[in-house]
Amino acid sequence: MTHRAFLPSFIVLCAALIGPGFSPSQTQSRPASSPIPRIEKRNGHYALLVDGAPYLMLGAQIHNSSAWPAMLQQVWPAIDDLHANTVEMPIYWEQFEPAQGRFDDSLLLTLLAQARQHKVHLVLLWFGTWKNGSAHYTPEWVKLDNAKYPRVICSDGKVMDSLSPLFPATLEADRTAFSAFMRHLKADDPQHTVLMVQVENESGTWGCVRDFSPTAQKLFAGSVPAELLAGLHKQPGTWQEVFGDEADVAFHAWYVAHFVGQVTAAGKALDPLPMYTNAALRPVGHARPGTYESGGPTDNVLDIWKIAAPALDLLAPDIYDPAYDDYMYYLDHYSRPDNPLFIPETGNQRPYARYFFAALGHGAFGFSPFGMDFTRTRNEPIGATELNQEALAPFALNYELAEKMDRELAALNFDGKLQAVSENPAEHRQTLDFGSWQAIVSYGMPQFGMGREPQGNPQPDGGALVGKLGPNEFLVSAIHARVDFRPAETGKQRQFVRVEQGYYEHGVWKFERIWNGDQTDYGLNFTSAHEVLRVTLATY
Ligand code: DGJ
Repeated sequence: MTHRAFLPSFIVLCAALIGPGFSPSQTQSRPASSPIPRIEKRNGHYALLVDGAPYLMLGAQIHNSSAWPAMLQQVWPAIDDLHANTVEMPIYWEQFEPAQGRFDDSLLLTLLAQARQHKVHLVLLWFGTWKNGSAHYTPEWVKLDNAKYPRVICSDGKVMDSLSPLFPATLEADRTAFSAFMRHLKADDPQHTVLMVQVENESGTWGCVRDFSPTAQKLFAGSVPAELLAGLHKQPGTWQEVFGDEADVAFHAWYVAHFVGQVTAAGKALDPLPMYTNAALRPVGHARPGTYESGGPTDNVLDIWKIAAPALDLLAPDIYDPAYDDYMYYLDHYSRPDNPLFIPETGNQRPYARYFFAALGHGAFGFSPFGMDFTRTRNEPIGATELNQEALAPFALNYELAEKMDRELAALNFDGKLQAVSENPAEHRQTLDFGSWQAIVSYGMPQFGMGREPQGNPQPDGGALVGKLGPNEFLVSAIHARVDFRPAETGKQRQFVRVEQGYYEHGVWKFERIWNGDQTDYGLNFTSAHEVLRVTLATY
């Protein structure tokens, strides 16, 4: 709810006082200027601060070719149905700088205006030198001039569909364009409709582990840069000596990261919005270098990226693997003390929806399924066959639930007081430890009766979240799950003192009803009804 109401009431008052010069979109959405969003760390926990307070990004990324004025009318209905509060949209270098040095922010202005009309925030994705490893979004003057902007040459001499990170002209061209983009964004968006910028998209190279051009070979035969050695606490040597079997991928990662870091730093110097880059992930199970996209921030080279590109606020996983253990692997590896967790892309098929909860449980400040528009574009098999109402529903359910307490969830996570889990098909009961209380989440239970052991849902759609509000008070919600509590103290039993259903509006709890009788005698049973509870417990 809070995201639909960006407007403090004084703005409405100001609008009335200022009169017709005040733009309607401003009165409906945001002040004419607002504090710049930023990522903050406190006691080991991260938050994305928007308008000065922790923000939970209920995100949606649209298809690659949907951020054009002609397509946007097929985008907004999906965003509305989804209850998203933030939309991730590409910015195409080829559109922004069609001729070298001529910048066109008309599309940016359209995206900003329409986002404000629809009362959502944006994350803008800079499709620059790399888009899924390729140079497809570079302007023609880059694409067609391989002498000036050289491609990766593989070990067998094959010219790859990917630009090399090693050539200053390429870096200079991208950095200049991105800087111009950030300059325009700063001027066009004083109210910070845009919360973050993604620099490049899944950078690196598919089909070849690194550049083997003469320039690259010379660098590869030389010593690993001292800065990298110092950061990794390694002894001097060549790439082969220092990294062994991972030498090629480490080399490519260092130079790609350095390039992206330079582009980021230049943009940040002009407009210090949070900036991140995303990864096409290495398959779980230690795939051999060269069999996955090489050079991007895959889990095995995160340390290299951190050292090479300190201007980036975070490295983010695009998760298209629906297996429970694999998903947890990625959440674990990208939620590091030095890396705030944000999921900029995940599959838009039903099994992925429940991972919204596990992402929150790992401290994520945002989650975003990919391909969330009604353009009928498909990315099957990694995405839904068609994004219709049925496909959208499980994601909408998450966001309809979360919007009743989005700011509160983000604040609880920032305080380290939120725990959340997704259904694991191999284990139908999960325990969340809050010290004096344990929350027990079980899946596939009847609503009525203690009955049997949990069976799991017919499809593993469940998820639950529990936030600690006080020693004996919890914020509880779930989808297709039962939540109950157990006191740590032996010999004691729990009783529900009061179970209130409601929601938060502008930070104030709004009471709807009390759960009691059949609704509490067998634990707290959640369906797809998106209900939020404040639960007060005691022992007897
Ligand atoms: C990951 C990329 O980052 C997206 O832009 C898109 O290409 C998806 N893969 C596939 O649809």
